[in-house]
Order: sequence, then structure tokens, then C-alpha cells
Amino acid sequence: MSLLLDEIALAAARLAEVGVESPRAEAELIAAHVHGVKRTELHRVPDSAFDARFWEAISRRSAREPLQHITGRAYFRYLELEVGPGVFVPRPETEVMTGWAIDRLRAMDVAEPVVTDLGTGSGAIALAIAQEVPRARVHAVEADPLARAWAERNITRYVETAPYTAGRVMLHAGDFADVLPELNGTVDLVVSNPPYIPVGAYVEPEVSEYDPPAALWSGTDGLNAIRTVERTARRLLRPGGLIAVEHGAQQGAAVYWVFPEESGWRDTRNNKDLAGRDRFVTAAWSLPT
Ligand SMILES: C[S@@+](CC[C@H](N)C(=O)[O-])C[C@H]1O[C@@H](n2cnc3c(N)ncnc32)[C@H](O)[C@@H]1O
Repeated sequence: MSLLLDEIALAAARLAEVGVESPRAEAELIAAHVHGVKRTELHRVPDSAFDARFWEAISRRSAREPLQHITGRAYFRYLELEVGPGVFVPRPETEVMTGWAIDRLRAMDVAEPVVTDLGTGSGAIALAIAQEVPRARVHAVEADPLARAWAERNITRYVETAPYTAGRVMLHAGDFADVLPELNGTVDLVVSNPPYIPVGAYVEPEVSEYDPPAALWSGTDGLNAIRTVERTARRLLRPGGLIAVEHGAQQGAAVYWVFPEESGWRDTRNNKDLAGRDRFVTAAWSLPT
């Protein structure tokens, strides 16, 4: 065994002790980041190249700082995003909802579908749609200036590597309650992963101490922002337009009823994440004309 592999085994044990869920995988990812290699190449790092910064990074992770803040990177569908303090780290469950949106946009008989991503954070959903639906025009809305700076960075970086996306992801500062009145009645699809945690609910330290509060909490039942997103979608969508909104695993029934309670929605559905839990609600706005 190489020195690095021995150190990874020790580090994994330390991460397990403090309750990190996938300790071996995270120790390997941290080692790969510190040594500038792929995870599959760790066995090739010579003993002489062992970098003591590995243990600094493991200490940070032991204090429950998220892996993505330590590496500065988050992976979302086919994207590598920059993340850090002030922005919500994109989650795998949101990839499933984004996939639903991408499939529906590809199936739409619309030359250049117009999309709004309400509460874009790092820009994850908006950029994934721009990447995977090359004719879509995506309006990404974010109220928090710190999060918006990360979105701006990711959009700029992405447009440099994929110039065909230039001018197709528009970042807007503002509250999703009243943003983009100029798009009223014209949007093909509204997608949102808004804050939805009930105030006072328990969350892991990685979340409570590192994700921004504006990305998490939303009233005593966790549904305030979701209700706002529903109202905004009613205003923005064209007849036949679609909405997808993410929610917590226990909120499927409550979020479902936010839609049929208002007249004009049809085909309201609960949709599951990869773990088989209710995770997002979809609906269509009014009857197609
Ligand atoms: C759970 S995070 C999701 C970020 C990103 N869409 C993702 O899935 O990774 C919610 C985001 O919505 C933003 N937000 C919360 N309330 C908002 C509002 N009223 N108007 C605009 N953005 C808002 C937060 O600042 C945060 O960036």
C-alpha cells in the first residue's frame, strides 16, 4: 500500500467517527483534490509526493464543512460548478427535477422555449437546461447578492467553455414574487428549487452552518416560498406552459394541494427522486388554446 492510501484509510475512519455518511469516498475525493489527480489515479501518487494539506482538508471536513466548500466544486448533471460560502450547494435530487424539465422542453413544439429558474443559487438548473436544451432561453432569478455573484461566475465560466450558450442564460436580480413582469403569459416552463424547510426543523450541520439561510427556511410549514412560486408561475406561464417545483421528502401531499386549490392548473402530479421519495410537483397551466 502507498502512504497516501494508508492515510486515506485513517482519514476515512476519522470522518466515520464524526458521522460523515460516505467517509471512504469523501476521503478519496479530498485526496484527489489535494493531489490534483482523478480519484481513480490515487494509487499512482508516489510516497514522496504526499501532501500534508490532505490532513488540513480532512480536519475541515471533520468539522462538518461540506466537501464541496473544501474542493470549491460541485457537480450537477454534466456541469462542474464553482461553489463556496454564500451559495447553496446543488443536490442530486434537483438533478432529477431538472431532467424532467429538460425532457419536457425537448418534447415541446416550440422553436426557442423560454424558461425561468426561480431562485437560481449557483445557476445549476439554469445552466443545465441551457447545456442540454440548446435552443432554450433561460431567465435565472436570484435575490441574494452573494449567491448571485456565484451564479454570475458560473455563467461567465460556462459561456467561455460553451460559446453556443452565450446570450441564452440571463441572470436577473430580484424577488421571484414580482420579477420579470415583461414575460407575463409567455413562459413555456417555470422551474424552481426554492427554500422549503420549516423554520426550526433539524438539519445536518453541513446545511445549517454552510448553506445560506435564505436558501433553506420558509415559514412554519416550509411552504411560503413554494406558494409564492405557484403565484408567480400563474402570472408567467403561457396557456399549456409547465411548472416543476422541488419540495422536502415529507411535503408531497401538502405541495400537491397548493396547485388544485387555485383554478387553472391541470395534470398536477407528485414526482419521486432517485431514492423513491416524493421530491417535486409538476403541473400544466390552463387549457392549451
Ligand atoms: C434551495 S436554493 C436553490 C439554488 C439552486 N436553484 C439549486 O437548486 O442548487 C434556493 C435559492 O432561492 C433563493 N431565493 C430565496 N427566496 C427568494 C426570492 N424570494 N426571490 C429570489 N430568490 C430567492 C435563495 O437565495 C437561494 O439561492
